[in-house]
Amino acid sequence: MFEFRRLRSPIIQAPMAGGINTPELVAASINAGVVGSFGFAYSSPEQISRDIMAARSLIHSDAQGALNCNFFVVPENFEASAQDSEKALNALKSLEFSGNLELNLPGPPYFPNLESQLEPVWKDPPDILTFHFGVPDQAILSQARSMNIKVGMTATSAQEAEKVEKAGGDFIVAQGIEAGGHRGVFQPDGEDKKLKTLALIKMLTGSSKLPLVAAGGIMNRNHLIEMTQAGATAVQMGTAFLTCAESGAPQEYKEMLLDQKTRPSLFTRAFSGRPARALENEFISLMQGQPLLPFPIQNTMTASIRKKAQKLENPEYQSLWAGENYRECRKESVAELIERMSL
Ligand SMILES: Cc1cc2nc3c(=O)[nH]c(=O)nc-3n(C[C@H](O)[C@H](O)[C@H](O)COP(=O)(O)O)c2cc1C
Repeated sequence: MFEFRRLRSPIIQAPMAGGINTPELVAASINAGVVGSFGFAYSSPEQISRDIMAARSLIHSDAQGALNCNFFVVPENFEASAQDSEKALNALKSLEFSGNLELNLPGPPYFPNLESQLEPVWKDPPDILTFHFGVPDQAILSQARSMNIKVGMTATSAQEAEKVEKAGGDFIVAQGIEAGGHRGVFQPDGEDKKLKTLALIKMLTGSSKLPLVAAGGIMNRNHLIEMTQAGATAVQMGTAFLTCAESGAPQEYKEMLLDQKTRPSLFTRAFSGRPARALENEFISLMQGQPLLPFPIQNTMTASIRKKAQKLENPEYQSLWAGENYRECRKESVAELIERMSL
């Protein structure tokens, strides 16, 4: 079974669903000696199979890194009354940018089925599987165990870490409040202590027996050292990889990260219905206080707005997920990033 010790540096290139984890990015990370991850949350089984094969064709035979596939654990039942749905839809329709877009209320199935998504993974197994937003069914964990796949799950609190440990996870991705993208809380409407990454690592080191992977705000070698000295076995970095040459982030998104140093990165639910940290833009500002639907209905409903914005290369209506320390992003290759991170 995979061991973090085998890596050149104890780093996981974070899973980032939505086209950012290209096979080139994942393979370059593995070739550089760290964990390369696919964020497959929104991908079809066919796409998953193609991406894994494409990455494998780019991985050198002597690569020191490892492959991780990541999925969301999303409940199947959502509640949204007809009245709430209408209000949320009208809020999006009233944006000038929506123009003549056809915006509709999505119907079920609202999200890809996890069991189907995992079929190509069982056929061509990665070294690691990770899950965000909760603990998957025991049948999935047993299957992974029987195939010697290491399993990690995100936790943002002591309670969530305990659930990961009780479920039989192999490691915890301890996600602090600085992290870009979706906050991994199991209950988006529950209490959130919003712990910083370092505080979370220090707290969990005392209470959990599992290896901890620190996620959130890690952008340079000093951050990595600080986390490992506090008890982390490895770190997971997302934002720092967004501006790498191999990342699939649209050019205008990369430019916002590299040039717009004055924009805050803040939490919004407006894109997806769940809290996620992004660079502030027009969509977030205009949607403040507007009615929203729960994840993933809101996510599906805003998809055509985000797609139009990408087509027009307009960053103001895209979800520009970015961690609090995005100002340290550099225009570089994955190999250069890993080189400057390595001890
Ligand atoms: C663009 C983007 C997309 C993300 N998508 C996912 C995802 O699909 N699954 C997941 O577990 N975490 C996802 N995350 C969160 C990362 O796994 C990680 O917690 C975070 O990037 C760490 O903080 P940093 O961005 O400051 O490095 C995403 C983060 C970003 C920036």
